[in-house]
Amino acid sequence: MLLCPKCKKPLEKRLNTFRCEDGHSYDIAKEGYVNLLLPNKKNSLLPGDNKEMVSAREQFLNKDYYAPLKDEISNYINSHYNKELSLLDAGCGTGYYSIHIKEKYQYVMRILGIDISKFAVQKAAKKDKDDLFCVSSMFDLPTEDKCFDVILNIFSPKANESFKRVLKDDGILIQVMPGENHLIELKEILYKDRVYKNDVEYEYEGFNLKDKMEVSYSIKVNKDDLMHLFTMTPYLYKTKIEDIKALDDINDLDITIDFIVAIWGK
Ligand SMILES: C[S@@+](CC[C@H](N)C(=O)[O-])C[C@H]1O[C@@H](n2cnc3c(N)ncnc32)[C@H](O)[C@@H]1O
Ligand SMILES: [Zn+2]
Repeated sequence: MLLCPKCKKPLEKRLNTFRCEDGHSYDIAKEGYVNLLLPNKKNSLLPGDNKEMVSAREQFLNKDYYAPLKDEISNYINSHYNKELSLLDAGCGTGYYSIHIKEKYQYVMRILGIDISKFAVQKAAKKDKDDLFCVSSMFDLPTEDKCFDVILNIFSPKANESFKRVLKDDGILIQVMPGENHLIELKEILYKDRVYKNDVEYEYEGFNLKDKMEVSYSIKVNKDDLMHLFTMTPYLYKTKIEDIKALDDINDLDITIDFIVAIWGK
């Protein structure tokens, strides 16, 4: 059940509005999402991934370069559960992973997707009209305690306290982070002499590691997809303009994909 971000009382859906008993109300947008991020909780006018990053992510993911990752998570859930599940996609982006996982799940799954970026939530809500996607922060989740069986935390910030609050006692937190060699060839082009490998940290304060999987393979990307990949990653903000020019000369590139999937329990 959703809670009012102002008074924390339950929200009830009536027609196109969520309303609490104190009269606070939140309209459902035409795309089907609801904005539960209070203006005083925003750290900028348009927090989270901007329109350009969200559009690049959507175009890149639509090519299914990351399909092995969504299948790995989906298979894990299918082999560990045989009951109705409630899933929180925290930092859901365009909903690429959770919507697929629900489609492949052999029993009923209800998704709540939240992201602080309105642009991301708009895209996710348009694709899945049966579930709820809302603009909200994962550090101040608008839900009751212990109401999710599964939380997805895929390339999004860690939010230990709130995840611990909303996860059921026997629930799992699925974290995906870059492995040591993820996108190493792209970094070699962008950063030349100072290429570093990603640090993989098996720690999540307040949680215990239950399982871990590594998903590694290689993809060939063309020029357009390389730019989409670059734009959807944090490199966009870390790279100097003159270094970005190095991508102009590349027509296609073989790139290592290296994901770590860590499964955490309470
Ligand atoms: C790298 S993207 C990953 C998106 C999606 N999980 C995926 O892998 O396609 C990180 C996402 O976290 C969102 N985000 C960042 N800070 C957040 C916060 N405090 N609460 C909710 N979402 C947040 C961003 O807007 C962005 O959509
Ligand atoms: Zn209220």
